[in-house]
This record gives sequence, C-alpha cells and structure tokens, in this order.
Amino acid sequence: MADQDTGSVAIVRRKAATAPRHLRQVLSLHDFEPLARRRLPRSVFGYVSGGVEAEVTLRANRAAFDRIALQPRILRDVSVRSQRLALFGQDHAVPFAVAPMGFSSLAAYDGDVALARAARQAGSFAICSAATLTPLERVATEGGSGWFQCYIPGDRARIEGLLARVAQAGFHTLVVTGDVPVAANRENNARNGFDAPFRITPQLIWQGLTHPRWTIGTLGREMTARGMPHFENMEAVQGPPLFSRDLVRSTIARDRLNWDDLRFIRDRWQGRLLVKGVLHPADAQTAAEAGCDGIIVSNHGGRQLDGSVATLEVLPAIRAAVPDMAVIFDSGIRRGTDVLKALMLGADFTLVGRPFLYAAASHGVEGVHHAMRLLADEVDRDMALLGVCSIAELRDQMPLLLPADWRG
Ligand code: FNR
Repeated sequence: MADQDTGSVAIVRRKAATAPRHLRQVLSLHDFEPLARRRLPRSVFGYVSGGVEAEVTLRANRAAFDRIALQPRILRDVSVRSQRLALFGQDHAVPFAVAPMGFSSLAAYDGDVALARAARQAGSFAICSAATLTPLERVATEGGSGWFQCYIPGDRARIEGLLARVAQAGFHTLVVTGDVPVAANRENNARNGFDAPFRITPQLIWQGLTHPRWTIGTLGREMTARGMPHFENMEAVQGPPLFSRDLVRSTIARDRLNWDDLRFIRDRWQGRLLVKGVLHPADAQTAAEAGCDGIIVSNHGGRQLDGSVATLEVLPAIRAAVPDMAVIFDSGIRRGTDVLKALMLGADFTLVGRPFLYAAASHGVEGVHHAMRLLADEVDRDMALLGVCSIAELRDQMPLLLPADWRG
C-alpha cells in the first residue's frame, strides 16, 4: 500500500513539473468539462456536451467500456514501451486523433485551427468538420489538417463541386458522415436557444452577458478577427451566415444520399475515402465493396439516434466482417484504458471528441496539447500496468475479460 501511494505521488509530481502552472490541477480529460461548463454559455456547452433525446446511447457508450475488465500480466520487463501506431502506412505518435466537431470555433477561439494544430504537435491529426465556421482551406494551411469530414449534399452537381474544393485545399482523406440523413432531435439545443435557424433571442443575449469571458474572448475575438461566422464548408462555396434562415435550405436533400452516391464519390475522389457512422457489419461490407479505404465505427457520440447500440459492443463483429479494411473507432473514449480496449476489440485507430473541444474552449491550443498528453500518459502507464510494450503486443496478448453476455 505504501509503495502504491509513493507511486501515485510520483506520477502527479511528474505531471506537475511538465504542465503549465494553470493546468496543473487538470489531471484527466474529465477535468476539462467543468472548466468548459464555466466558460461557455449554457447553449454552447449544451450543444457540445449533450446527446439526443433521453441520452440512452450517450450513457451506453460509457457503460460498455466499464463492462470490460482488464487482466494484467506481471513481471514482464515493460521498461521500453511505445504506443506509436501506423494508420494507412503513416506513423502516429499516439493511437488517437481528434474527431470532427462542428461549431468548434463557437466553443473555442479559432477552435478548428487550434484542434488541428495541437493534434499535429502531438504527432496525430484532427479531422476538420463540414459543420465548421472556419473555411476548410484555413484548417488545411494553418492547422495542417489533411482529413476532411463532409456532409454530402443530396445532388451530384453539388457533390462534385465540394469534392473539387476539398482536393484543391490539399486534403488527402475524405470522411463521409452517413448517420445524419436528417437532423437529430437534440432537445437540449432547442431548450437552450441553440437551434437552427439561429436567431438572436433575449435568452442568448442574457447568456452572453453572464459569460463575458466567452463573449469577449471567444465570440467577440472571432468576429473582430474574421467577421460574422458563416457555414463555410457544406458546399463548394461559402454557406449562409450563422444567424440565417437559409441554413435550413442549405442542408436539405441529405436524406436522399445512398450507397450509389458513395460509389459516385469514390469514382471522383482520388484520395482516401472513409464512411463514418457505421454500426452494422453489413454496412461495413458495403463500404468495402464500394471501394472505401476505411470506416469509422461511431454513433456520433450518442448525438443521432437515441437507443443506438454502444459502439464498443458492435466493434468486434464489424472488425470480423471487414478484416482487411481500416476500422477507426469513436464514441465515449475518456481514458487511456478505453483507447486500449477499443484497440484490443478490433480498432486500428481511435478518435476522441468532446474532451478535446472542452480543452480548446478552456485553454486553446495549450489546453488541447495538455489533454492529448494526459491521454498519452495514461495509455503509456496502462500499457506498463497491463504488461505490454507495444500495441502489437497488446493485440497479441489480449489482456481483457469480456462479460458472458457480451454482444460482440
Ligand atoms: C460532433 N460529431 C460530429 N461528427 C461528424 O461527423 N460531423 C460533425 O460535424 C460533428 N459535429 C460534432 C460536434 C460536437 C460538438 C460533438 C461533440 C460531436 C461527432 C464526433 O465526430 C464523434 O463521433 C463523437 O464526438 C465521438 O464521441 P465522444 O468522443 O464525444 O464521446
């Protein structure tokens, strides 16, 4: 017991020595959430943190991780460890990246560029979202992001224009999100006044007045630097401004999108192509047949269909269905052990969403950098405690126990 105590004190001291003073009390990804909650108006925080309807899937994502027990091995000389992981032939310093998140620059000053920069510094990458208020060209050049996630418009002339723009900007990997044929029923957004079409209401004005650090330091700074935010990346040309009734029109026809459109995209997009939002092995196989290079197993962090299965539970079956395809995983990862569980159950790589945006909201690039380092530290420590030195060894040893009624 005494040894354990000494060990944990040493870890905290090491973090304290390397982290900037104002981040020394931030010891895990969870610690960023209350900081973001304090800084952001209720509407923006609710948009980031919320799930959909009764938030059944949001909770299920976490519960699935908690049901899996780890079974460490001991006395194995784990003094030389590496969590480096290659994806599509490219080596990454950590086995996780930043999931695409819309409206990031409303939550954090220049949020999309901040997320991309910090991820790059950490030896990973961030996927630029179509629902961002930052032109994708800036995220590519200033953030260094090579991954773009698109919400494909439902007609082909518009698809072609968008693909040409994304390629021209220098993105090498396109992620088509397939789980948003219609907008989800996010009641919290409607209650908090964060709902399309956006209108400046007394409720939003009050939230702005009561959160001056956000109003001045995020929104005000953003508008001073770049003017009224617009939906920049839904199509080949700039979309409507944030506060606009046209927003509804610009997103119509997405419910027509189908696998033929994906094949159409495949024929025209020279780079790597992935589909995000896969929860069924048959869809994974269709993606492979359509010529995709990979899929992202995701339930959108519990933000689309409430009651959807937890992503971790379907991961093994999807992995088995497409053994030769890149399978990336997200939804619910908060700890190093979560990353390792997903990698053991078949993921080639993982994505994390909300915690990195909370970190950007509270401390900008530095915050995201700290968050990524915390998660990397956890992965490294957990590997040692499990008795493995590499991700390959982890997958080989599989030091975990699945519950008897595990779906996968
Ligand atoms: C998202 N997500 C998302 N996904 C996508 O394909 N396009 C998008 O524009 C967005 N926007 C978005 C905004 C915000 C604020 C959040 C939190 C999430 C889903 C995201 O890519 C990812 O699937 C989940 O966030 C993963 O779950 P965790 O890590 O947040 O639990």
